[in-house]
Amino acid sequence: MFADRVVSGMRPTGSLHLGHYHGALKNWIRLQSESPCFFFVADWHALTTHYESPQMIEESVWEMVVDWLAAGIDPAQSVLFIQSRIPEHAELHMLLSMITPLGWLERVPTYKDQQEKLTDRDLATYGFLGYPLLQAADVLIYRAKYVPVGEDQVPHIELTREVARRFNHLYGREPGFEEKARAAIRKLGSRKAKLYQQLRTRYQEQGEENALEAARSLLEEQQNLSKGDQERLFGYLEGGGRVILVEPEALLTEASRLPGLDGQKMSKSYNNAIGLREPPEQVTKKIRTMPTDPARVKRSDPGNPELCPVWQFHLVYSDEATRSWVWQGCTTAGIGCLDCKQPVIDKVLAEQAPMLERAQRYLDDPSLVRGLIEDGCEKARDLAKETMREVRDAMGVNYG
Ligand code: TRP
Ligand code: SF4
Repeated sequence: MFADRVVSGMRPTGSLHLGHYHGALKNWIRLQSESPCFFFVADWHALTTHYESPQMIEESVWEMVVDWLAAGIDPAQSVLFIQSRIPEHAELHMLLSMITPLGWLERVPTYKDQQEKLTDRDLATYGFLGYPLLQAADVLIYRAKYVPVGEDQVPHIELTREVARRFNHLYGREPGFEEKARAAIRKLGSRKAKLYQQLRTRYQEQGEENALEAARSLLEEQQNLSKGDQERLFGYLEGGGRVILVEPEALLTEASRLPGLDGQKMSKSYNNAIGLREPPEQVTKKIRTMPTDPARVKRSDPGNPELCPVWQFHLVYSDEATRSWVWQGCTTAGIGCLDCKQPVIDKVLAEQAPMLERAQRYLDDPSLVRGLIEDGCEKARDLAKETMREVRDAMGVNYG
């Protein structure tokens, strides 16, 4: 039940570009073959900032799923779904709001930053203040262990951990916890009970983290333990109450090494992006016209690759031999900039060709996309429902 689950989301605010691919998506694709992964379209999060453009969000949702599939996210390995299709996220968000001090939200750096940056809209809303708490609910509802995110999102994961801790502290305590925990240990059978006790002692007395890990995996493997008992034994390891919500860890995604065409961060709003599924002719044209070292006015002027965004592309796409050809040719005016750009063009097009091909299937038959999202929502909903049953129980709002 507490498998090493991975959860992450992306806001649908336009089609994706190669910066997203080299930043986030390549990481997701690697993770999906290692762990159970849940990737979702964070449409409610998009609404917190783009509440005046619901139509843009609606269109971007499906575009983005096709982009994911094109990039190589495999629906047979990853669970793909849409946040708003699992209303349990909203319920958990609301219940967590009861125990979240306002100050925790006001102190999250993105809150003030974004309000100052996005001056064209009013972000003094209740929804925007709650953004990181909604994100916490997204993660906690699947009891995820890892959350691949960029650096700017780390404070949100930190908040998620604090909220989980507070929740467990408030609602994981129960009368007779010790006795219940000891009774649960007996249910493990004598051999495993002994092992559990030993590992617990090693962690509590010696602080051995790997003993804690080993004890947790032991519990994860137990088929015949009730959820409640399992939570008690997780909590008993660390000396607290039941662990109902699991504290996740951020898996830091390295910033994309691929800059935009002008050398700045690649972003659609800077007009320097190459779309993930942009047609080859257009990509070719964009690269052929991208700026180079301004010192190379004439073909006979030597240049310095360090001052040229094309060089950054070579660092991502080219092998050693090509790079030294560039360096040599540029600094001696032995090659022209168009010569230099050609291998980059070839590599980018080669990277995109299988993406375009994968996408075509889904563009020809959009019902395939709807269907796999339907399946993903169902899987996500099953897990979310299970967590919500326990959250409601713990908070005393289960009358069923
Ligand atoms: N806030 C994230 C971003 O802007 C998107 C997001 C929403 C998310 N919910 C999440 C990421 C849950 C990870 C986990 O990138
Ligand atoms: Fe840039 Fe290449 Fe031209 Fe040098 S030769 S300025 S690296 S495009």
